[in-house]
Amino acid sequence: MPRSRIAGMGKYLPNNVFTNNDLAQFMDTNDEWIQERTGIKERRYAHRTEETTATMGIEAATIAIERAGITAQDIDFIVFATLSPDYYFPGCGVLVQRALKMKEIGALDIRNQCSGFVYALSVADQFIKTGMYKNILVIGSEKHSFGLDFSTRGRNISVIFGDGAGAVVLQATDDSNRGILSTHLHSDGESAEILAMYNPGTHANHWGNYASFNDAEMADMFMSHAMIDKAENFPNMDGPSVFKKAVVKFPEVIMEALDANGYKSTDIDMLIPHQANLRISQFVQQKLGLKDEQVHNNIQQYGNTTAASVPIALCEAWEQGKIKEGNLVCLAAFGSGFTWASALIKW
Ligand code: UT7
Repeated sequence: MPRSRIAGMGKYLPNNVFTNNDLAQFMDTNDEWIQERTGIKERRYAHRTEETTATMGIEAATIAIERAGITAQDIDFIVFATLSPDYYFPGCGVLVQRALKMKEIGALDIRNQCSGFVYALSVADQFIKTGMYKNILVIGSEKHSFGLDFSTRGRNISVIFGDGAGAVVLQATDDSNRGILSTHLHSDGESAEILAMYNPGTHANHWGNYASFNDAEMADMFMSHAMIDKAENFPNMDGPSVFKKAVVKFPEVIMEALDANGYKSTDIDMLIPHQANLRISQFVQQKLGLKDEQVHNNIQQYGNTTAASVPIALCEAWEQGKIKEGNLVCLAAFGSGFTWASALIKW
């Protein structure tokens, strides 16, 4: 059975740097609070009109394809992870296929928020293991800045998120000593609504009985003034509850990957945790007994870029020479759903 290995990586961060002090001009917040609670100093925001989730993904993908030593024509399949797509539908995958003038290959969008990239990687890994495809483009990209509540009402969320994209080319290899060793995917929908964007959506539980609706009420079901007044078109999060679950599930899913392959936590050469909060990463590092040089964090510069955070951090760690051939690399993520996931890779 072939294995899959990461043959090329790319990342794209918009030029526009937005500091904590810049945010304090819009809302009641301050640099000290944000740094102390999250570790974030600044984040990037995409150009309002010229950059989208797809265009940033395409920039990252172009670099990944070039570094893999192949062309866009060699890609057999696209998996695109995002929660902030260019369109409600179709997904971003087809926009990549069009922009890079690829063959009429399959394109799949994954909606798993913070764990989206690790889920996407796992999906791609299965297609390669079965021998169906040889080169799969896996992208994580987010343009959060278009849809955050920049008033004080939304400050617990809007200070955290940033824009950016990361991409990898996953390639089949017969080398049994390297590649993705295993992936581990989990969910618990019990708390689905505590980190969610409710509208636009098809849930109607707060609308009462459809049968009694007049025409105007029916027309308002997709998007209404009432939804906007209640800020239901913005993400909603019970931060402390997410934090409590994250610090349990991160170490658990990392240990699951290590146990499955006969490793212990200190065997990890590089842990790439989803960049949700520096305090979460530090807790996980401490719990697993890892040194600073065994964990790569960049939330300080980029904030939380959701599905893009793992591929951006992975690419950055590699570009900085922190990942070398033969290293044991672990990717792990936790977020909305809740969903969480890990991947263990022999580089
Ligand atoms: O990647 C997706 C998964 N997401 C996560 O993993 C996020 C996990 N949660 C967190 O990272 C943290 O819960 C936050 C960073 C979101 C919040 O930090 P916290 O230490 O849990 O703060 P809190 O929500 O308990 O709020 C403490 C106080 C509140 O004021 P009072 O009620 O104590 O007066 C908030 O209103 O801080 C206030 N606050 C702020 N103050 C200044 C909330 N946001 C801000 C802000 N600036 N931006």
